[in-house]
Amino acid sequence: MAFTPQMPERNVQSAPMTGSRTYITTPIYYVNDKPHIGHLYTTTLCDVYARFFRFAGWDVFFLTGTDEHGQKIEKAAQERGITPQALADENAAEFEKLMTNAGFTHDDFIRTTQPRHVKQVQAFVSRLHEAGYIYLGEYEGWYDEGQEEYIPENKAKDSDYKSTTSGKPLIKAKEQNFYFKLSAFQDRMEKLLIDQPDFVRPEARRNEVLGRLREGLQDVPMSRTNFSWGVPMPNDPQHVIYVWIDALMNYATALGLGDHDSEEYKSRSKYWPATYHVVGKEILWFHAVIWPSILMALELPLPRCVYAHSFWIREGQKMSKSLGNFIDLAAINQYLDAYGSDMWRYYMITHGPLGATDANFSASQYHDVYHADLVNTVGNCSSRVTAMINKYFDGEVPTESPQGKRMIIADVDWPALANSAVQDTTQAMEKLDFPGAMLATLGLMRKVDGFINHTEPFKLAKDDTRRDELGAILYQCLEAVRISSLLLWSALPTKMEELWVALGLDIDPRQGELPKLAAWGGLQVGTKIKKVALFPRVDNPVEN
Ligand code: MSP
Repeated sequence: MAFTPQMPERNVQSAPMTGSRTYITTPIYYVNDKPHIGHLYTTTLCDVYARFFRFAGWDVFFLTGTDEHGQKIEKAAQERGITPQALADENAAEFEKLMTNAGFTHDDFIRTTQPRHVKQVQAFVSRLHEAGYIYLGEYEGWYDEGQEEYIPENKAKDSDYKSTTSGKPLIKAKEQNFYFKLSAFQDRMEKLLIDQPDFVRPEARRNEVLGRLREGLQDVPMSRTNFSWGVPMPNDPQHVIYVWIDALMNYATALGLGDHDSEEYKSRSKYWPATYHVVGKEILWFHAVIWPSILMALELPLPRCVYAHSFWIREGQKMSKSLGNFIDLAAINQYLDAYGSDMWRYYMITHGPLGATDANFSASQYHDVYHADLVNTVGNCSSRVTAMINKYFDGEVPTESPQGKRMIIADVDWPALANSAVQDTTQAMEKLDFPGAMLATLGLMRKVDGFINHTEPFKLAKDDTRRDELGAILYQCLEAVRISSLLLWSALPTKMEELWVALGLDIDPRQGELPKLAAWGGLQVGTKIKKVALFPRVDNPVEN
């Protein structure tokens, strides 16, 4: 047995939020699968967050990529009679194309077969070895081939010796492996989860991890010898590094943390530690326990939060290849064609499995949400206001301060309302509470609607003596719409940019000026605007 080095206490704590620099990651996706809703979901969550905070002026780094080693990939390539590298190149290209077509704004796309990654994984593993966290041992136990995961006896028994992911029988594995001394981190891991309740979110997932932690950590095999498609162990190339260890390290290798001479290190190491690793619940253990333990062993700071979402399901059933009920790219394209790409993003972030329970993907709910939130709220509010300005002021933005002083109408303090929408949306976004963020922004638009119904500008328009009041009302409505559009842009980029063009606004979100732009009064009096119709009604839900 290797010795158990004592880690300095400081490494137990993950870094606090910086408030102005943030690093968010998706899992890296296996290249033996075709892209589906699961991949797009996690990436959409990260993209909305990354866009929002870049626009808010933060220094953001958003990473995604592909996981290309391991037995599964080797097998899939064999079946097709091609090399694993050829298979990886082909499918990684497909993933990358999808990410670009979907308009995702990742700053890098890492592939685990890239030399930059391989080199650093070996450097990290050598460091773990030197620090006494790796030893040679014999593994005999259960193995989930599909997940490439070693399963402890008690967990295997609970699932009737079947994979909890694929349902396929677990296999008995016996092999000589290098082990990672995970057991050395028992106390520090428990302390981390207790001291920092937000380290794993949502709460229910944290409790699960803590429960399993308390059953006791066992050392884990971290190399394999029965196949060769992986990163060779630096000290013994007969072994390849277990794919999960290799994969987890992507979050650090993309920033060059394993190679201080690299360009990546110079320009990107400032982003570490990650603010969020966003992952699906089935891969939480790796991210919430194994990865932090590796980081502690490497004396690197820990991420601030591992966010584990649940699963999209269909008609109450898990999506699986055998049931043929996956929302695949063909199905996704039907939704994109019918409702546009912004609605896809909106549905993902507002009705997805962000919490501890699975979310049902439903064509009729999709349809209803589109009409309630985008057509009847965002669309209707913007078209009502722009139409009235066109009708009553020839499309020229009127003033809210006709006598040099802002008119207050119906006792509504618009600057305060807008300001709280900005604060509430930002705070919710920071917590990855996307439904909360959208509710705060749409709430502002709903207030505009209510204000119009209450003040009845269409009636005032008939009275020439009340033009000042009419102008002030419409200015206030349009200004609230403008501010809402800034807050909505990260979720609905296409339509909000369309709206900005109609409002004569020249905005480049990469300039990071959201706080300045969102201040009340930014809308210039006299600007020529056009009437908009952003979200057309759709007759029938998509059939599937
Ligand atoms: N390669 C590993 C991750 C390594 S990260 C260091 C992997 N890859 S994966 O391609 O299988 O991952 C897919 C991601 O999609 C996971 O986060 C998973 O939770 C997510 N989803 C797969 N099916 C899903 C649903 N039905 N619903 C939502 N997300 C799901 O795991």
